[in-house]
Amino acid sequence: MSVSTQDLAQISELVEELCGIVLDSTKGYLVENRFGHMLGEYDCEDYGDLVKRVRSGGDKKLAGALVNAITTNETLFFRDQSPYEALRHKVLPELFDAKEKTPYPQRIRIWSAACSTGQEPYSIAMVLSELLEDDLPNWDIQILATDICEDALAQAREGIYGDLEIRRGLSTGELNRHFIPEDSNWRIKPELQKCVRFERRNLLDPFAAVGRFDVVFCRNVAIYFKQEVREDLYRRLADRMEVGGYFFTSSSESLKDIDPRFDPQLHCRSVFYRPAGLPA
Ligand SMILES: C[S@@+](CC[C@H](N)C(=O)[O-])C[C@H]1O[C@@H](n2cnc3c(N)ncnc32)[C@H](O)[C@@H]1O
Repeated sequence: MSVSTQDLAQISELVEELCGIVLDSTKGYLVENRFGHMLGEYDCEDYGDLVKRVRSGGDKKLAGALVNAITTNETLFFRDQSPYEALRHKVLPELFDAKEKTPYPQRIRIWSAACSTGQEPYSIAMVLSELLEDDLPNWDIQILATDICEDALAQAREGIYGDLEIRRGLSTGELNRHFIPEDSNWRIKPELQKCVRFERRNLLDPFAAVGRFDVVFCRNVAIYFKQEVREDLYRRLADRMEVGGYFFTSSSESLKDIDPRFDPQLHCRSVFYRPAGLPA
């Protein structure tokens, strides 16, 4: 069914409220592609009916399906390489040293905010396991990986990837070190999977009970949000950081004009920030 200007306006407003993603007036084709099939599946008369049912709050399944359909889950292992080089050569060695002087010398907490199908948190876990080697089991590694999209999280939790996904970013050495063949796919090794906890979280919601993090990755998600929503998100994430923590975005997202706390630091061709969190 084709989308009228009025349908598009209503749907855009709803999507922005649900997950922050902005659909401008050129995105009619996207709405038709992503939501068209849902009209039949969920027995909706038209787009107006779909919006009404989600807004009434009675159809949580439909609201979830709408979010699953509109999110773009594009990701890959070791995306852009340079943040992982910085993690390996600068951030984690510095953190290991700094941790020695704290009450929890072997605890590292990392948040992969908007983790999609899991490649980002598992790449982080691979770097940690290569640095810590046999000592990995003695460390309390806590990688919290969150996303709003249940479909993406389901794959992430399973930790199984096909050849195409594996070939996007992993070397043969990394594949053999960190994955086990399963049927015609590859499963992440249990010792790495154990380091990652997946949770559904909407980044627009307050960050209740997440604690504080040594490292935050929030990459390629805020680009879909309005400027003020984006800035608010970065500030709230910075508030959740340990003093001396490390904050990574993607190279297209510069934070330097948002807040004096975001002072860009360059290492291994990667930019990161070290905003101190709010006082504990
Ligand atoms: C393009 S992927 C980026 C994945 C990964 N961070 C990377 O850089 O490869 C964007 C992810 O953001 C998630 N997302 C979109 N809006 C969100 C929101 N309001 N809260 C949490 N996650 C959201 C989507 O479901 C999607 O998985």
